[in-house]
Amino acid sequence: MTNILVAVAWPYVNADIHVGNLTGSYLPADIFARYHRLRGNNVLMVSGSDAHGTPATVRADAEGVTPEAVYQRYHRRFLDLFVAVGISYDLFTSTHTQNHFRVAQDLFLALRDNGYVFREKQTILYSETEKRYLPDRYVEGECYICHFANARGDQCDNCGNLLEATLLINPRSRIDGSHPVPRETEHFFIDLGKLAPSIAEFLVREKDHWRPNVARFARNMVEQGLHGRPISRDLDWGIPLPEPGWPGKRLYVWFEAVIGYLSASIEWAALEGRPEAWKEWWYNGAARTYYFIGKDNIPFHAVIWPAQLMGASRLYAGAGEQALNLPFDIPANEFMNLEGKKISGSRHWAVWAPEAAATYGADPLRFYLTVNMPEAHDTDWDWDDFVRRNNDELVATWGNLVNRVLTFAYRHWEGRIPEPGDLTSADRALLTRIEGGLESVGGRYEAVQLRAALGEAMALATEVNRYLDQQGPWFQIKTDRAAAARTIFTAVRAIDTLNVLLAPVIPFAAEAVNGWLHGKAPLFGATRESEVHDELGARPVLRYDRGGSGRWAASTLQGGEPLGEPSPLFRKLLPEVAAAERAKLVSVPD
Ligand code: MF3
Ligand code: ZN
Repeated sequence: MTNILVAVAWPYVNADIHVGNLTGSYLPADIFARYHRLRGNNVLMVSGSDAHGTPATVRADAEGVTPEAVYQRYHRRFLDLFVAVGISYDLFTSTHTQNHFRVAQDLFLALRDNGYVFREKQTILYSETEKRYLPDRYVEGECYICHFANARGDQCDNCGNLLEATLLINPRSRIDGSHPVPRETEHFFIDLGKLAPSIAEFLVREKDHWRPNVARFARNMVEQGLHGRPISRDLDWGIPLPEPGWPGKRLYVWFEAVIGYLSASIEWAALEGRPEAWKEWWYNGAARTYYFIGKDNIPFHAVIWPAQLMGASRLYAGAGEQALNLPFDIPANEFMNLEGKKISGSRHWAVWAPEAAATYGADPLRFYLTVNMPEAHDTDWDWDDFVRRNNDELVATWGNLVNRVLTFAYRHWEGRIPEPGDLTSADRALLTRIEGGLESVGGRYEAVQLRAALGEAMALATEVNRYLDQQGPWFQIKTDRAAAARTIFTAVRAIDTLNVLLAPVIPFAAEAVNGWLHGKAPLFGATRESEVHDELGARPVLRYDRGGSGRWAASTLQGGEPLGEPSPLFRKLLPEVAAAERAKLVSVPD
């Protein structure tokens, strides 16, 4: 049994989640976690709402409400979405918790005590009209690296580089469009220069399994030279500095949000009543930690977070505990576009995940987002393609296969799996082929090649269809009932094994099929909402109950075992759906 930490990007509380976000990080994380649960590994999957920083305050300012209200609204919506699409977090919490404040502050102090924090005067853009500093997203301007016109103060959406706001060409305030001026103020910095040799060493040590774009981006950042990076901001929403005398300053949101992976693990352990249990993933050298993020998050996860972990070194370590585990893999995804254009919530060019899940169901959405997952290059959500793949692949190849076979068995053998007698070589060949998927498809999941995992599992389903076409049990039944029994028995076993291979991608359908074949014992546990209280108030969280009799093994169903009465798993979509959905998209200029 291996301990697997599935660390999932924390959504900003400034907007709903769209299909690009879902396929970028939350869905691949969930598929990977479910696969490892089926394997019997010890999975901890954590994340939460990224509640602080200028994403929240800019939104709050624009609406004339408090950042706290914005945070609570979106946090609520995230929980509903993740339950609806089955993103099975062991804990989905938020950064606005007493526990997270404490852990983030402790990590800051550990860095300081280890000599990796310094204080320095810094020039920040200041708005004379609003009489305030304009950190991060409060300014936009032309990127001084790629010359994209609307780069934000902290990062350029076009080239992905982290930016210094003061170097933006022609900066302007997001609030009133005025031109800010540079002004000096004092801030805290993490000394990345001092940590650079360790980071460089980390980035080359056994990284052959990393996606090439992730390794390249991170190594390139180190080659460009690492310097001190400010980790405090002039804001009044967020985590106070754990040093007296800095009112009006907070920890930088990107400094503290990544610490959420650690603090959420600690919170999870406390909620379990085993306060030290988080160490099984963080201080156990045999554990593997995976970070599921979009490509714009690469610098923070592949360079800066490892630096924070190395610099904080033995935070909360007990005797014999060496160092916090560094990321084992960071399988960052590229972006999904929509009908050929970049998704943009503010420009209303988006497919919102809650709506898509409500209209089409979680599994059809998950299926399309997996066949089309932007693992190696940007992909495109195309409504015609969505309808076609739903109908021709999910429904035709898998849904109909399950339905035809189980309905036929249920009708002709009185709700039981038929007794097969002796299998023929064709029957045995099919089962061997399907069971080979445990190894081949499993290897794909293991390597976080989720598209390929699904593609290979679906190719195996096609083989079962071909086998049925050849055997023709629907005709056999009229002339040779024993032959029909053998064929249907074989197909039921193939379906049972395939169902396990597909379960990480389409867990809802998999539970239904598993129920018809195995009765009560579900494959997975369930995600439940509960409420947690602390000094910052009450908030809902999601927790996974870790039940489930997950198995990654060939079917051992026997003739005579009872079958539940099957019903259709998915439904076909009319081709007109695509045009109707496309008509809903309106592209408005910025
Ligand atoms: N909120 C960030 C985003 O949506 C991701 C933060 S990941 C974290 O891009 F680990 F830093 F929280
Ligand atoms: Zn740029």
